[in-house]
Amino acid sequence: MTKKAVVVGANGIIGGNLIAHLAELGDWEIVGLSRRGGKTAGKVSHIAVDLLDAADARDKLTHLADATHIFYAAYQDRPSWAELVPPNLAMLVNTVNAIEPVATGLQHISLMQGYKVYGAHLGPFKTPARETDANHMPPEFNIDQQDFLEALQKGKSWTWSALRPSVVVGFALGNPMNLASVIAVYASMSKELGIPLRFPGKVGAYDSLLEMTDAGLLARATVFIATNPQCGNQAFNINNGDLFRWSEMWPKIAKFFDLEVAPPLQMSLATIMADKDPLWNRMIETHGIAHTPYRDVSSWAFGDAVFGWDYDFFADGTRLRRAGFHEYIDTEEMFMRVFADLRARKIIP
Ligand SMILES: NC(=O)c1ccc[n+]([C@@H]2O[C@H](COP(=O)([O-])OP(=O)(O)OC[C@H]3O[C@@H](n4cnc5c(N)ncnc54)[C@H](OP(=O)(O)O)[C@@H]3O)[C@@H](O)[C@H]2O)c1
Repeated sequence: MTKKAVVVGANGIIGGNLIAHLAELGDWEIVGLSRRGGKTAGKVSHIAVDLLDAADARDKLTHLADATHIFYAAYQDRPSWAELVPPNLAMLVNTVNAIEPVATGLQHISLMQGYKVYGAHLGPFKTPARETDANHMPPEFNIDQQDFLEALQKGKSWTWSALRPSVVVGFALGNPMNLASVIAVYASMSKELGIPLRFPGKVGAYDSLLEMTDAGLLARATVFIATNPQCGNQAFNINNGDLFRWSEMWPKIAKFFDLEVAPPLQMSLATIMADKDPLWNRMIETHGIAHTPYRDVSSWAFGDAVFGWDYDFFADGTRLRRAGFHEYIDTEEMFMRVFADLRARKIIP
């Protein structure tokens, strides 16, 4: 039977990579949702919809009565933790309320979360974080979203899952949380300016232990969880399976970009990179790379957040492995692969 996936947040770093994986699998019909929409290709079609608008969601989504799986990975960025709650909860509620009542063959709703559930963005948190850990003091939009799904699922035949990746690394443009682009553009600009690569984060962040989640691995795990009944109605941490410290990774990144490494120098990327638009435009002309607007390749505030974690940042990934998903990714290999991909696509020199 053909399965029909509704991928919510189709242009996101997570949603985009999930659509690519589902399309490769061949037995899925895929509908992507976002405000910008996208091009129909093969079994992938797109609907441009503003999910903050309940009426727009109802008008454009109620024909999706044959949806079997909803993969929710939309996201609205806001300046404070409290401000994240209303729009992010509303988008999920508007999506599910439009599709779930009509989709009589619905099997699963997958909710993308992250380590924010564990308070990882607030300060040093308990590591390894486990799916069974108690919630932290609200506001926390991820928990409000999960509560909504759990309550709605009671008495229904479909199941839900809550997926908790670490920082997601993969190809995307125009996203507020894209670490690979942050590093690749920062390193490319260092090279252009003839200066060595300096870790810009907090002093303690250079030696902390952390982990990443490859966007492809996340996509494969997401589909595994959504299609294996033993995974229903649970949360899962999803990570590469290895740990690293920037102090070890940074020289390897420098080597990829053919740069020397200099000692770390703490600086705010959001501040120091704010005036680099002209440099970026010059690099586009000099190196003949793609005409990507500077704002679309830079997520400097996200870089500041990640490089500011002067505490360990990892979660226990064994629940997913016990459930039968055994893939892992070498994080060093992942970074180099994504940088090479950005180069091959001519996003960076
Ligand atoms: N990126 C990471 O490293 C990371 C790590 C762990 C967890 N997460 C979590 O994963 C989730 C997704 O993150 P992401 O980084 O993939 O987000 P993202 O790249 O910013 O993508 C968000 C998606 O939502 C769509 N969207 C936003 N507002 C919309 C609206 N009003 N109506 C319809 N679509 C809308 C966007 O498309 P349009 O702009 O075209 O509407 C885009 O496709 C978030 O909850 C995030 O916290 C992310």
